Amino acid sequence: MTFATAPGKLILCGEHAVVYGRPAIALPLAGVRARAEVADAPRGTGVRFDAPDLGRAWSLAGTPDNPLSELVAGVLARLPPGRAPDLRITIASDIPIASGMGSGAAIATAIVRGLATHFHITLTSEEVSALVYESERRYHGTPSGIDNTVVAFERAVWYQRSSVGAESGERRAGGQLNASCSNAPTLQCSNALIEPVAIAAPFTLLVGDSGVRSATRLPVGEVRRRREADPARYDALFDDVRAVVLRVRAALAQGDIAALGGLLDRNHELLREVGVSSPELERLIGTAREAGALGAKLSGAGWGGVMIALVDDARRETVRAALTAAGATRVLETDVAPRSGTV
Ligand code: PMV
Repeated sequence: MTFATAPGKLILCGEHAVVYGRPAIALPLAGVRARAEVADAPRGTGVRFDAPDLGRAWSLAGTPDNPLSELVAGVLARLPPGRAPDLRITIASDIPIASGMGSGAAIATAIVRGLATHFHITLTSEEVSALVYESERRYHGTPSGIDNTVVAFERAVWYQRSSVGAESGERRAGGQLNASCSNAPTLQCSNALIEPVAIAAPFTLLVGDSGVRSATRLPVGEVRRRREADPARYDALFDDVRAVVLRVRAALAQGDIAALGGLLDRNHELLREVGVSSPELERLIGTAREAGALGAKLSGAGWGGVMIALVDDARRETVRAALTAAGATRVLETDVAPRSGTV
């Protein structure tokens, strides 16, 4: 029997614009994790999935088009030809689903890691990320790829899709390399530019869950429709987001936490203009700022899910209590440690 885990994730800045080729920065959220246990099963029983937290169980043969069935079939296809294995895959997660914390990518990553360990297959983080991307695509339609990337690499990443396909919000295989790939310390650079992010000073984020579940593909689809109707307006907003993300990278590299706060606020204003905030998120974000957060924004696809608030030690507990009083169903905390920008 083998056991593997994968973290949740947060998008620090750049969500939505990242679907259209602008950069975004994401962080792993190590405090909440998905877990997969892979065990040999009696001969002839095939591959069975058990997700007791979700009250779901299914078999690969019975539901081959389930995205996780396809994911497992894709990993098993890498085994040498022979008898199809009999397995029981048990999934558990403390990452709330449809909340912007990358629950789907984390579950898929834990399964891939569990299978790789079980069958002694060596997979690079890049390969894990690529396998998980395919299941993300089944759930979300046109994901940018940032979720599977940050979860598989498990470190703060700068993520920018190649310009090919990003224009239309579609991902296509074999995109051209971004010109900056050649001289940056990249983690991977085939369909996207993925760079480690340098963090010079520690900082703390509180993650407030609005309690409203929102499937990623809904706001993503609505943004696509709005952009198609008014490309000039949305491309200008996405360009403004890019400018913010560039400044966030500089602030992180310089350890300028005060500047980071203002930039998170600015990113949220732009997301509001894009149309992906919600009354519940606005209430939590306004509350966090009033309680002394250095900055706050929604994180992820929006219309529900989570918001993040940058806090210093003096205000951490005040902001946490204010978020709970304002209706946050859960408040998580993540301490982001300094790290160099080397691979
Ligand atoms: O899956 P979520 O809710 O964390 O949102 C993903 C971020 C988006 O930029 C909105 C979509 C994407 O594929 O990057």
